[in-house]
Amino acid sequence: MREDFDALAAIGATPEGGVNRPSLGEAHLAARAWFIERAAAAGLETRVDPAGNHSAILPGGGPTLLLGSHLDSVPDGGRYDGALGVVAALHVLLAVQSTGVEPPVTLEAIDFTDEEGTLVGLLGSEALAGKLQSESLQAPRGGREALLAGLERAGLREEELVLARRDPASLHAYLELHIEQGPRLVESGTQIGVVTGIVGARSFSLAFRGRAGHAGTTPMGARRDAGLAAAAFVVAANELVVRDFPDCVATVGDLRFEPGAFNVVPGSARVAVEFRSLESAQLDALESALLREADTAAAAYALGVEATPVGRWEPTPLDPGVQAAIERAAAGLGLSSAPLPSGAGHDAQALAAVVPSGMIFVPSTGGVSHDAREHTPWEDCANGANTLLRAALDYAAVGP
Ligand code: GLV
Ligand code: MN
Ligand code: MN
Repeated sequence: MREDFDALAAIGATPEGGVNRPSLGEAHLAARAWFIERAAAAGLETRVDPAGNHSAILPGGGPTLLLGSHLDSVPDGGRYDGALGVVAALHVLLAVQSTGVEPPVTLEAIDFTDEEGTLVGLLGSEALAGKLQSESLQAPRGGREALLAGLERAGLREEELVLARRDPASLHAYLELHIEQGPRLVESGTQIGVVTGIVGARSFSLAFRGRAGHAGTTPMGARRDAGLAAAAFVVAANELVVRDFPDCVATVGDLRFEPGAFNVVPGSARVAVEFRSLESAQLDALESALLREADTAAAAYALGVEATPVGRWEPTPLDPGVQAAIERAAAGLGLSSAPLPSGAGHDAQALAAVVPSGMIFVPSTGGVSHDAREHTPWEDCANGANTLLRAALDYAAVGP
């Protein structure tokens, strides 16, 4: 498993030790091709569905137990986020295959398309779950142009993405191994996290519109500087969450000024803001408060602002039966485990709507993720994979 993990980490590797595999870019497509070739070489069936989800399949006696994660990364991301879950899923199939015993379910290791939201977010898993909305495709987080270019590169057709939907009756469960991406397992000295639920997230693209002008000749008092309003919003959003929403997080992860030059007062500014909570009501309240802050910032500099929603994922509790199977698996391996919620989004969020779903977390050194410094000791990776194997076989025996 480690050889395969390392082979994958070499695809799109960055000098800093991470990977740069944004959705449907060349490196991501190369990683996906590697996965299919590796599975086929091992004698597994392979399949690519109309949403580009890549699967390795070990046929068995019943409906499909899906095990998966994603091979795309955030820009300049780490090598564990997503990839660990895909490689471990593949190795669960290989371990079962090596016994020669037909499993009581069909086992499928799946690499979902565009989990990270470079383009849309949970694109492949929502399509498989029958939850992909046309609005998500019309106003994607990464912009329409990038989405269409990515689909074209991958040989996918926008109108066919929804055909990836599977009949829920054909699915037994979904399990995903992932790194925690936060500090709690390390801080508490726990080996395995049993994920209880996943945060909801919403994102907006804010466009502040002012007036471009000459940076040398436009008097300070005569400017309508879109950059200033954007900057005021960035600071106000942070203060708002710290002060009034202690259980939420909000992030401005990208900020672009147009036309974008030393000597031009910004005529417009685009702000990518995203916020998360485990409670829908908190998300509603925070959304209203953030949009008010955007209006206030725009008004302070006599500008206009438009807010476009570009992604909405609901807080999602995970299945108690699957959680129990994970807990039993960890205990059976002599590993300590603890329940914990996920502050990161995951494909399990889409799957949970149609099939019993659960997640296993392993510790992230320093709690770092979405960065090249992301790291999990190999022993923890192996613990996670063994827990995935045991939990899968345990849950495979659970009736519908
Ligand atoms: C995905 O990792 C996310 O939580 O943004
Ligand atoms: Mn991930
Ligand atoms: Mn991620």
